[in-house]
Amino acid sequence: MTDNKKNTLQHIAIIMDGNGRWATKRGLPRLAGHKKGAEAVKIVTEAAAEAGVKYLTLYAFSTENWQRSPEEVNGLMSLLRDYLKTDFKEIQEKGVRIRFIGERHMLASDIVEEMEKIEKQTINNDRMTLCIALSYGSRQEIVQAARKIATLAKRGDILPEDVDIKMFSDMLYTKDMPDPDLVIRSSGEQRISNYLLWQVAYAEFYFSPVLWPDFNKETLNAIIEDYNHRERRYGKA
Ligand code: IPE
Ligand code: IPE
Ligand code: MG
Repeated sequence: MTDNKKNTLQHIAIIMDGNGRWATKRGLPRLAGHKKGAEAVKIVTEAAAEAGVKYLTLYAFSTENWQRSPEEVNGLMSLLRDYLKTDFKEIQEKGVRIRFIGERHMLASDIVEEMEKIEKQTINNDRMTLCIALSYGSRQEIVQAARKIATLAKRGDILPEDVDIKMFSDMLYTKDMPDPDLVIRSSGEQRISNYLLWQVAYAEFYFSPVLWPDFNKETLNAIIEDYNHRERRYGKA
């Protein structure tokens, strides 16, 4: 690939990691890192939209994160409550559609109501879609898809040979979104932590040493520049 030919970049998925370390480094409680991380969400969302990205999926809270201390989980949930009521409004006003993926039944009902309200209010925004993975686990998502398919088969609505990649994709939370082109993880960790396992089959990966609260427009643009120079092959020679 020549340098002037850019890869298409429709969808970026980010694992926003490093909030706790950011706070600990400063002698602050972990929650202070989550607060600063929430500010980075606004900055990076706007930067992605400006860069022409159509889908941005952010990993905000995993199914495994429920195992953290009650103090941290409660702190994160109250931060989320505030965020849903204030900051999302700002993002929403900038023409961004907001949607959520993950296990909603695990979340408090007032939070779920707020999420549904935001999804409805932003449904016609078409500048970019911001997808927040909240109480999200990819294996859980895949298992619920398999269950749906098994139910359809048991009812006689489909035959085993009807099950293909398209049908399976359509059973996932991400059903109407293109697969991520680029997955970014901040904070230097190099693992996927149960994120979009099915969807990242041919994604490019970028592991950034920057802790999420320090992540900004320049960090994102430098990563996009790196991505633009990669050669995506999809198995072809
Ligand atoms: C990411 O930051 C945010 C969540 C997982 C909710 P961490 O809280 O994982 O921060 P580190 O990895 O401990 O630094
Ligand atoms: C992944 O980060 C989940 C989110 C960023 C929301 P973690 O910090 O929970 O992942 P591990 O435990 O280091 O793999
Ligand atoms: Mg972490």
